[in-house]
Amino acid sequence: MTDEKINLNISAQYKKRAEKVIPHLTGTFSRAATSFIENVYPLYIQSGNGSHFTDVDGNEYLDYLMALGPITLGYNYGIVNQAIKDQLDKGILFSLPHTIEVELSELVCKTIPFADMVKFEKSGSNAVTAAVRAARAFTQKDMIAYCGTGGVWHDWQAAMVSRDGGVPKFNEDLIKIFDYNDSDGLEQIFDDNPNKIAAIVLEPTQFEEPKNNFLQKVRKLADQNDSLLILDEIVTGFRFDLAGAQKYFGIKGDLVCFGKGMSNGLPLSAVTGTSEFMKTFDDLWVSSTNNSETLSMAGTKAVINEMKEKNTIQHCWKIGKILFDGWNKISEKNNINAKMTGYPIRMDLRCFNNSGSESLSMKSFILQEMVKQNVFMSILGASYICYSHSEQDVEKTLQSFENVCDIINTKIENDDYQKHMDGSLPKTIWSMKLPSIKKHN
Ligand SMILES: Cc1ncc(COP(=O)(O)O)c(C=O)c1O
Repeated sequence: MTDEKINLNISAQYKKRAEKVIPHLTGTFSRAATSFIENVYPLYIQSGNGSHFTDVDGNEYLDYLMALGPITLGYNYGIVNQAIKDQLDKGILFSLPHTIEVELSELVCKTIPFADMVKFEKSGSNAVTAAVRAARAFTQKDMIAYCGTGGVWHDWQAAMVSRDGGVPKFNEDLIKIFDYNDSDGLEQIFDDNPNKIAAIVLEPTQFEEPKNNFLQKVRKLADQNDSLLILDEIVTGFRFDLAGAQKYFGIKGDLVCFGKGMSNGLPLSAVTGTSEFMKTFDDLWVSSTNNSETLSMAGTKAVINEMKEKNTIQHCWKIGKILFDGWNKISEKNNINAKMTGYPIRMDLRCFNNSGSESLSMKSFILQEMVKQNVFMSILGASYICYSHSEQDVEKTLQSFENVCDIINTKIENDDYQKHMDGSLPKTIWSMKLPSIKKHN
């Protein structure tokens, strides 16, 4: 391991140009320079291949952020590229629907439990918002009980987080928050708002495991109160299992949304469900010109078929487990409280300093030292495994982490991680504004 600084000059030049022409530097907050450690992390990418990408200065990194989760197979994935190219020769968007929309819908229905019908959208936010519209229309109720940590950036939901400028105030009164694994809190929401809750919106898991039959209790509360259960499977779908979290956890959603995991980076998302609920869309103005774009559909069909044929998800669990367990063994051996938590395919690194407090500077320091060894992990977000990650990739990652532990053991005194940062800490992107509802005593 050398202490030579990685050259990021061209990245810095692009940032200067972006500052003039793009609000917050890019269209996605989580990708902006402020979400990483400035002067240490690269800022602009040239290309990607498999589990790696090359930045604009020509440095190659082993990636675990995977484009914020969508890359489930790998970058520049041959079969998917070919499907896109074949479709490109036919055309991108037409005056009528293309047959690929029917073919992909049939494939999704065959793959996802309880999916009789599919409606495609372009982003995860759009898909979950479309499901909320359908639930409100179907139940003739307006309020939403929401469990999660955010992710859908439309008015109905953005009302609960910071950066909510421009969202009409009344949206805030229509959304009630409950915590994961707190079915009592959800029950309280129903008690406080009888016959008003159109839907429960829930990510089946983020990093926590469901406890005490939480998911089954949520399902029961939806049924007892004539509310729909909307599952946000934007991340869990096509990642935890080919059939998603419904299969993985043995639950049933009424409307189930897919996005990131489904398309290996292509801009496509979907709402699925039984015809009873999906037919609500017959009469809803949820429609957009580019929803019928065919390159994403052709590519997604290739992604799903590849996942089926190669059992790619099983590979991801296997590789992820080697990383997850190996990392935690190293942290334990070195007596450094920096643990991978969550699931081996969707991990969250949590770092606690000597006084037991969760420490952003400790995590930032560790990942700064990882990125200096060309292993790219997100500080504010999750780490993901894709089909292109190999055992050699994991070996390199674990060796790099061993090196970081050596640095901590020789350099760090009294948790003075901040002193050893080569750039500023990442800035939190958003925070929850509304309190979670708890059971009244
Ligand atoms: C669980 C979850 N749902 C929905 C979304 C929104 O998806 P998109 O960014 O494609 O709109 C995200 C994005 O991070 C997410 O993590």
